[in-house]
Amino acid sequence: MSSFDHNASGATTGSGAPAPSDRNSLTVGADGPIVLHDVHFLEQMAHFNREKVPERQPHAKGAGAFGVFETTEDVSRYTKAALFQKGVSTEMLARFSTVAGEQGSPDTWRDVRGFSLKFYTSEGNYDLVGNNTPVFFVRDPMKFPHFIRSQKRLPDSGLRDNHMQWDFWTNNPETAHQVTYLMGERGLPRTWRHMNGYGSHTYLWINAAGEKFWVKYHFHTRQGMAFFSNAEASAMSGADADFHRRDLFEAIARGEHPSWRLSVQVMPYADAKKYRFNPFDLTKTWSHKDYPLIPVGTMTLNRNPENFFAQIEQAAFSPGNTVPGIGLSPDKMLLGRAFAYADAQRNRIGTNFHQLPVNQPKVPVNTYMFDGQMAYHHSGAAPVHATNSGGRPWADGTGAAEGGWEADGALVRSAYTLHAEDDDFGQAGTLVRKVFNDAQRAALVDQVAGSLLGGVRSPVLERAFAYWQSVDADVGRRIEEKVRRGAVAAKLAEGMGEG
Ligand code: HEM
Repeated sequence: MSSFDHNASGATTGSGAPAPSDRNSLTVGADGPIVLHDVHFLEQMAHFNREKVPERQPHAKGAGAFGVFETTEDVSRYTKAALFQKGVSTEMLARFSTVAGEQGSPDTWRDVRGFSLKFYTSEGNYDLVGNNTPVFFVRDPMKFPHFIRSQKRLPDSGLRDNHMQWDFWTNNPETAHQVTYLMGERGLPRTWRHMNGYGSHTYLWINAAGEKFWVKYHFHTRQGMAFFSNAEASAMSGADADFHRRDLFEAIARGEHPSWRLSVQVMPYADAKKYRFNPFDLTKTWSHKDYPLIPVGTMTLNRNPENFFAQIEQAAFSPGNTVPGIGLSPDKMLLGRAFAYADAQRNRIGTNFHQLPVNQPKVPVNTYMFDGQMAYHHSGAAPVHATNSGGRPWADGTGAAEGGWEADGALVRSAYTLHAEDDDFGQAGTLVRKVFNDAQRAALVDQVAGSLLGGVRSPVLERAFAYWQSVDADVGRRIEEKVRRGAVAAKLAEGMGEG
């Protein structure tokens, strides 16, 4: 029995009094008009009108589960973060998502997948908000809203549009590496359980002696990677738009708890300046030969949400949530994200979103942010100002920031300073030539050509041919041939249709 079940029928009003009826409104006679003082009816109607919050701007469709992260290896020489000390277990929440689709969109449309983690550590919440790919489309956050708009819908018809997507991608050639991932198998993971996750950005780790290291996070699925073909994915989109959501929930309910191994690549702090390419450029991966994977621990998802809205929809992940021993990096994208998420959540959920149980840290909170809509936790009569003489602690850090790095120079609007091997197409070409096999290359050609044939017009089409030529000459030629053949076939079919 819940605390609400205290009257004969068990239902109450919002204020806890017995609810008069959840079936019949109060009327003047059985057939008469409804009266204004049917407070219970009015409360139900008014609350119903307010029971949705705005969906996340990107990554609206998703789901998640709770679990535990166990640090199994000693990485204390790289970080003092409490959660990454050997033997420590930390409760956590994961949320997986598509990027472009809205709340009701199919889980199996081709897209990058979000991989968001919240660790409820003994030093406050640590969030790692990554994807199922190790790189991203752009390297300056100024471009992010434009990128997302190009993936969403046209202003007039409200339709998604291949032409708009390729227009953005080909105008921003740094997208080539991520677009190659997206057009390959990773764009169609079979389930969320069967995909890897990446922090993608470079982060800073700091050890107990204050030494700093640059790191990249890799979560490798222990279920093995598995993918859908285009045909399987589109059939599934029709048959079960919530297939990934259902798969995760049902697997956990059956006691099949998916798990991932976390490894990190660690770059000594001083290497960053002289590495072959800019190690903070989010469109690049680091060579595993240069910086091999170092195992850290295991993440296991073992508990489904009890309430989707409270625990998943209202979950607020932010790359800005770090803990001692972990910092950000000069990656401009990451710095842009450090602002974007909490701001989105103040708007989406409310000013005090961090007070909701799913977002609350498992450690005492002593923050001077107070009041505001739906404020729940408060500090009683304690001083509301710092510094104060009332004995309430305040923070007093001065000097070099622990998670900081050196920076100087005039204020500019510019691309990154060039390193020897900085370019837009090199790593995309390596992915196509050295990582993909023949079958995967053929599938890439089919996928890109199919997408281009789906409404991409001149001059974007010619730019797309040049883009793929720059990724790989052979693949570029095959894509162009296939599109030109397809266009001719479509013209012929059109001609026949007219007759
Ligand atoms: C400057 C670039 C970016 C900006 C401004 C940005 C902004 C946002 C915003 C506003 C949200 C919605 C947050 C909410 O309402 O709770 C979001 C969600 C998300 N973003 Fe980004 N994003 C950026 C880049 C990235 C990158 C590079 C990644 C992955 C490496 C990423 C992964 C995600 C994920 C996984 C979510 C869903 C979070 C969840 O599960 O609740 N984003 N992003």
